[in-house]
Amino acid sequence: MIGDLSTAQSTRQSTAQSAAAGPRTIRVDANGPVAVIVIDSPDKLNVMSRPFWPELRAALGELEADERTRAVIITGAGDRAFSAGGDIAGFADLTTTQAKRDFQRDCMRTFAAVEGCALPVIAAVNGYALGGGCELALACDIVIAGDTAVFGMPETSVGLVPGFGALRAPSVIGAHWTKLMVFAGERVDARTALRIGLAQKVVPAARLMDTARELAAQIAARAPLAVAVGKELINGGEFEHSTAALTALHGTGDTAEGIRAFTEKRSPVFQGR
Ligand code: COA
Repeated sequence: MIGDLSTAQSTRQSTAQSAAAGPRTIRVDANGPVAVIVIDSPDKLNVMSRPFWPELRAALGELEADERTRAVIITGAGDRAFSAGGDIAGFADLTTTQAKRDFQRDCMRTFAAVEGCALPVIAAVNGYALGGGCELALACDIVIAGDTAVFGMPETSVGLVPGFGALRAPSVIGAHWTKLMVFAGERVDARTALRIGLAQKVVPAARLMDTARELAAQIAARAPLAVAVGKELINGGEFEHSTAALTALHGTGDTAEGIRAFTEKRSPVFQGR
């Protein structure tokens, strides 16, 4: 809830528990204001195996807690896939109802962590973004696609539906495009993704990471608390919360600095306070 800036600030200060053995399914490059999380099992098209879900949550929590980080990019290793989605072979291990529910909750908590992350999260989609890969892109704040990107939510072919995508895709691409993708397993190429709002920019695949880094740097140069409040409001704020959050933003050092810099005709230097 946005009553003041406490959500954005406390989220940044919270320290996530790392997976005991360190992440195995992702790599994190966090030297500077822009952090890159790479989904890292290219031989399996960056499939989302069971450890992936808590590992991504932990990585986001650690980046939020690190005040140097101002923006996050998520991408896939190699040039074939962002992610081909949940590990279909691994579904066989979910033998009890409790195990199925725990798994589903784990996935949903991770999508919620991306949406609720105080940092802006950019998806750099290289190749296939299928099933959970497409849902992860939907959870991100901005999607940049390489021209070879292919989006799809084919879960009905294995008797499932995209639990998060079915909830969120209608507000991004509309109910009818969502139904085409979910009911028929229709794949969406990069140009179509751009047209229907599933991607905000399409660039040659070779330029994907440079473009994502440029955008992330552009965002990272702006006032971080303002960006965090903007994300929270866009993702579901209300009038009262908006008023309280904006009142609090007006009182921050960053807003004072932004106003000073404007009048002094120079670039602002933001501290995140
Ligand atoms: N779950 C488990 N393994 C997967 C996977 C998934 N979702 N997607 C790809 N893989 C594995 C393949 O089994 C294969 O493993 P192997 O080399 O040990 O045989 C490897 O990744 C490469 O995939 P492959 O199918 O050989 O590549 P392809 O170019 O022929 O096809 C796809 C690529 C993406 C079209 C195809 O892999 C696919 O349809 N994947 C499933 C996508 C999906 O339904 N996702 C939603 C899951 S609910």
